[in-house]
Amino acid sequence: MRMLASLGALALLCFGSVMCQDTMPGDLEAELTKRGGFTQILALLKGAGLLDTLKMADNITVFAPTDDAIARIPADTLAAVTGNPTELQKILGYHAVLKDVTALHRNGINRLQDKVVMSSNNLPIRINVYKSVHSIAAEGVNITERAIRVSNGYVHAIDGVMMPPTGDIVEIAVADGSFTTLVSLLTSAGLVDAIKSDMNITVFAPNDAAFAKLDPQVTAYLTSHPEDLK
Ligand SMILES: *[C@@H]1O[C@H](CO)[C@@H](O)[C@H](O)[C@H]1NC(C)=O
Ligand SMILES: *[C@@H]1O[C@H](CO)[C@@H](O)[C@H](O)[C@H]1NC(C)=O
Ligand SMILES: *[C@@H]1O[C@H](CO)[C@@H](O)[C@H](O)[C@H]1NC(C)=O
Repeated sequence: MRMLASLGALALLCFGSVMCQDTMPGDLEAELTKRGGFTQILALLKGAGLLDTLKMADNITVFAPTDDAIARIPADTLAAVTGNPTELQKILGYHAVLKDVTALHRNGINRLQDKVVMSSNNLPIRINVYKSVHSIAAEGVNITERAIRVSNGYVHAIDGVMMPPTGDIVEIAVADGSFTTLVSLLTSAGLVDAIKSDMNITVFAPNDAAFAKLDPQVTAYLTSHPEDLK
């Protein structure tokens, strides 16, 4: 009875005023605090001085690791990151988008496949849809709850921490050190620029050990026949 009465009062309140306060989402901090389960990310954002920036921005989309996700990070790894302000800023900045990316929040899962949005620090965040396991992921991290409304945008709860890319495909292959043959063949085939400028590329990258298994005659042939190599 009491609940019915208060529901009635609420209905009246909403009916009687143009703006129904109960349907207005709070700001990022208020909304996530109300929901619970985001204590850690809120504390990290606040500590890094980013929480106020996000609360004041026009349009935000935040990929927010849940407390469960952060609890799974080994303590020493977490300490190493929180003890390095530059690295922490980079990782947290990678979890925020400061543009209106409405398509990300609407329904219509197909539209999301392979969608790329740029983070606040201008690094790509790729969304993928995995229909067979009913999952949508941001940079391979599962989105466990989509499009939580906050006053100036949306939050997607994620089940892990997204690691900012450390370079493009060629830079990563070079830095890795075990793709020297591939990198040199790509260079002689003149494909480096094409790979660097394609924002949508997947490379199946044989490592040096794989190339070492190739018949030397094949390698020699390819190196002297750039068109076939390409
Ligand atoms: C991703 O999260 C959704 C929503 O919680 C869940 O249904 C799905 O099983 C999760 N997928 C994976 C691969 O963990
Ligand atoms: C995003 O910003 C545009 C203008 O910059 C504004 O029209 C729109 O309402 C904003 N969206 C949200 C969700 O605040
Ligand atoms: C990536 O590929 C998808 C699907 O072909 C396409 O819709 C999208 O525009 C491409 N994105 C970029 C940045 O090239």
